Amino acid sequence: MASSIAVCRLHMTRRVRLVKSLQKVETFLQRSIGTDVVAAQPEAPTRDESDEKGGCKSLHALQVERQEQAARSVLINCQSRTREKTLLKYLSSHGDIKNYFFYESDDLYAVVEFAKRENVASLLEGAIIPSGSHESAVPFKSRLLTLRNLHTAKSPNQQSGQQCQVQTAFPITELIKNLSREDSIDQQITSLTETYQLTEENTRLRFLVCSLLNDITAAYFPECTIKPFGSSVNGFGKLGCDLDMFLDLDGISGWNVKTPKSGLFLEYQMKQASSARAVTQNILYVIGECVDQFGPGCTRVLKILNARIPLVRFSHKPSGFQCDLTANNRVAMKSTELLYLYGELDPRVRGLVFTVRCWARTQGITSGMPGAWITNFSLTVMVLFFLQKRSPPIIPTLDHLRDLAGPADKCVIEGNDCTFVSDFSKIQLQSNTETLEQLLREFFEFYGTFQFSKMSLSIRKGQEMNKPEMGPLHIENPFETSLNVSKNVNTSQLDRFVALCQESSWLLQQSETNKPKVNEDSYNVLPWGLATLLLPSQVATINTRKKKRREPASARIKSLLESLKNKNEPKMSEGL
Ligand code: GTP
Ligand code: MG
Repeated sequence: MASSIAVCRLHMTRRVRLVKSLQKVETFLQRSIGTDVVAAQPEAPTRDESDEKGGCKSLHALQVERQEQAARSVLINCQSRTREKTLLKYLSSHGDIKNYFFYESDDLYAVVEFAKRENVASLLEGAIIPSGSHESAVPFKSRLLTLRNLHTAKSPNQQSGQQCQVQTAFPITELIKNLSREDSIDQQITSLTETYQLTEENTRLRFLVCSLLNDITAAYFPECTIKPFGSSVNGFGKLGCDLDMFLDLDGISGWNVKTPKSGLFLEYQMKQASSARAVTQNILYVIGECVDQFGPGCTRVLKILNARIPLVRFSHKPSGFQCDLTANNRVAMKSTELLYLYGELDPRVRGLVFTVRCWARTQGITSGMPGAWITNFSLTVMVLFFLQKRSPPIIPTLDHLRDLAGPADKCVIEGNDCTFVSDFSKIQLQSNTETLEQLLREFFEFYGTFQFSKMSLSIRKGQEMNKPEMGPLHIENPFETSLNVSKNVNTSQLDRFVALCQESSWLLQQSETNKPKVNEDSYNVLPWGLATLLLPSQVATINTRKKKRREPASARIKSLLESLKNKNEPKMSEGL
């Protein structure tokens, strides 16, 4: 019962956001291009305007706000299934509660945000170390707590009426059904985006997990913060995506302070390592040990210190997040900021990225495992490049964003120019009114015929360039331009991508005429439009063009259409 209420509430929330998003697209298409973005996207009056650049909040401002919110929050395992009202009354005795929600992972949990940090301190003061395990408990006190209730007569698994927020991805079979009921491909894309994007609650939980980890690292580096980056915050995150975080050692005061010319002064004595990389490895080694030995809820800790970017990987059981902790990974933070900026500039960017990412995952172009697959990051850069190539372009090149930068935006990391404008209002967009449906068709057409053997992609220039090396796919790293972000991709994976683009382009052409007339009462509608692209493809069985001769396209498409007509469920039960 409780879960059905929760799902119902979730669908309502998504529907409201869907409508808002559609209105945003409409507003965007109606506004005269080149005007200040503020006019098009008015913000709620309660938001702090000081950090808002042209109507969009900068990622930095958003991070600061979220981090502060997380520092006033606690995570409580509610094993005892105490009634919500009783729990809130108990917690409120320590201070005002600003926000709370429940979710289910391996157990029932509550995220509770207090009004002040002192409220959390007061709550923790009253908490006790588990009785009976005094000897074996590592006495590290954190904001991950367990609620005990000596008065409850209920069995541990009994529900007590809390409405839980879903934190996992929606099953693909359900998504296909829902999309098939939409009236246009544009609506299908918007609906897919609304279904998969991170919820407010999931974002709060991600910042809270970073904040809990920060409590561990603060023992050694009290001035540092742990920040999420990647898809958790770049606007392209899907429910269930990993949590990338980095320890920002730049927060330590005293770096780059000029040595006084005369007089007395003190400097810290510090251990020296052989290189900056060795320092990062040493710090992550120690933090990895602490997370493993002291971190409540942190399991399966792996220290992967010899990777190009050294990291500590672990599972955070209470949230269900797979976490990757890096240190001083500042270029990745700039990539995150750049992707966030592009996503904020035009609502079609997120719609197309979500759709292509979802399509790529269902067709096995991307994978959760490391290997020769195209990564989500590479795929996102491909979508951005495509949008820069439209006529007129939908988004500007990175070089143009650098030219618009002010003195405060200047940023050079390890010799790489990472400068780009942070004031969104300086960015003048051109008058492109293509719909999401047109863009999706054109995306598949574009990459189904792209000359990958000769050309590389550069979002810095917004132009194809001659390939500097012989790898199958070359996508220039936006900030470290000598690097290829898709170096891992092999020929067979690129061939599958191209073949699937061609097939999807063809399928979308069919759906123009094949859009079914939907009966209002009919629950089972045939997949059409975007939904057909998420069904298993014939191309999935082709490993390489060389190894196996492909069936003629007409035969493959005929059998695909047969499979679409088949009313049986697609053989996909997992969420993405
Ligand atoms: P998912 O985790 O797959 O949802 O997407 P993600 O964007 O978070 O990708 P991932 O976890 O693989 O990487 C996290 C972030 O690191 C990305 O968003 C980029 O900012 C950065 N990143 C990943 N791969 C590369 C790369 O090859 N080169 C560079 N410069 N940055 C990368
Ligand atoms: Mg990630």
